[in-house]
Amino acid sequence: MTAGPGDDRPRAPRILLGVSGGIAAYKAAELVRALVREGAEVRAILTRRAEAFVTPLTLATLTGHPVERTEFGEPPSPSILHIDLVRWADALVVAPATGNVLARFARGLADDLLSTVYLAFDGPVVVAPAMNPRMWDHPETRENVARLGHRGAVIVPPEEGFLACGDEGAGRLAPLEAIVAEALAAARRSSSLDGVHVAVSAGPTFEPIDPARFVGNRSSGRMGFAIAAAARARGARVTLVHGPVTITPPWGVETVAVRTALEMREAMHEAARTARVVVMAAAVADHRPAGPAERKISRKEPWSLELVPNPDILAELVAARRPGQVIVGFAAETHDLVERAKAKKQRKGCDLLVANDVSGAGSGFEADDNRVTLIDEQGRAEPWPLMPKRQVAERLLDRIEPLLAERPAP
Ligand code: PMT
Repeated sequence: MTAGPGDDRPRAPRILLGVSGGIAAYKAAELVRALVREGAEVRAILTRRAEAFVTPLTLATLTGHPVERTEFGEPPSPSILHIDLVRWADALVVAPATGNVLARFARGLADDLLSTVYLAFDGPVVVAPAMNPRMWDHPETRENVARLGHRGAVIVPPEEGFLACGDEGAGRLAPLEAIVAEALAAARRSSSLDGVHVAVSAGPTFEPIDPARFVGNRSSGRMGFAIAAAARARGARVTLVHGPVTITPPWGVETVAVRTALEMREAMHEAARTARVVVMAAAVADHRPAGPAERKISRKEPWSLELVPNPDILAELVAARRPGQVIVGFAAETHDLVERAKAKKQRKGCDLLVANDVSGAGSGFEADDNRVTLIDEQGRAEPWPLMPKRQVAERLLDRIEPLLAERPAP
């Protein structure tokens, strides 16, 4: 983020603040003051109900920008959306976020300005929910929050305590300093990979046995797709090479669909010619059936499967490493995770290795979440807690960026 053409001073982080209509909306004024004090430029969007708690004039005075607002049910005029509120912002922060706004975001509704901007914005999103504890504890709210988290939103959880409604419990807006910290971190991330080409592999490979059968695995592509989406949200140009999956590729990412390890190998070597960051998150088959049968093998014929080794794409990419490149591998293990992952990192020569236990449910293959251990550039093991794969992706990129900075582009 620079101040402008020819001026390489960093410009102020631009934060688009959505304020929805809970009693905590009165804190929006103090939140804007805190963000501005930290050097951010803030523009505000008020929902109709929020105006009952904080006036547009107050926020316009504190932000120095007109406050955008539309009623529910009145889609914003195209010009409002295209005055590049979406393009202007480095980060979208919603504080407080009512249960209603969480539901609209999670279900992709877009019939007012705030929900339209959320749907159109492809940068980092920070959400600070605040509501009555009973609403916060409701399974629907929890499901909406989980969906937003899995799509990469940073959730700043509400605090426990007494609320204005007299109830006690979790539901009070998080401390402003926590929201400010997450908002500034998100804004900083939003262009940290500007102009960097990132190549990511994802999903399984299918190795044909005959025209009808193949050897495959349970990779859904979620982990690699999350890395691609997170890199894109940081301004990277992303090439996503993926095996056969059913999930939808992230917006704005160049995709290359492959089936076999040999096809993935070719596509990854091609992408690595210009990529500064290469992440092998795909579950590539180590072997493939020798000479797949031309015709469907009849069940009456006795047959056995002879397997031949596939090339080790990650090791090949390391061997062909270009100056300035950062190469990250993954390790799918079912036992002795750290030892095996450290040995794998050593053997393959990648800069970082993300190890995950794929033996259990709820993490690894197909799951929305992942519990990983990072083997860092010094070979040290750093266990991370179970978290949505998008947050694993954000943390991984946060570890990749300093390595990039140490290796100037060729
Ligand atoms: O896709 P999901 O459902 O979200 O599941 C995510 C995941 C479990 C697939 C992912 O987190 C993961 O662990 N990916 C790597 C799986 C794998 O192949 O691990 P491995 O230990 O067999 O391979 C080690 C590394 O070498 C990996 O970076 C792999 O991409 C790479 N490899 C493996 C074989 C091969 N022939 N060439 C390779 O480059």
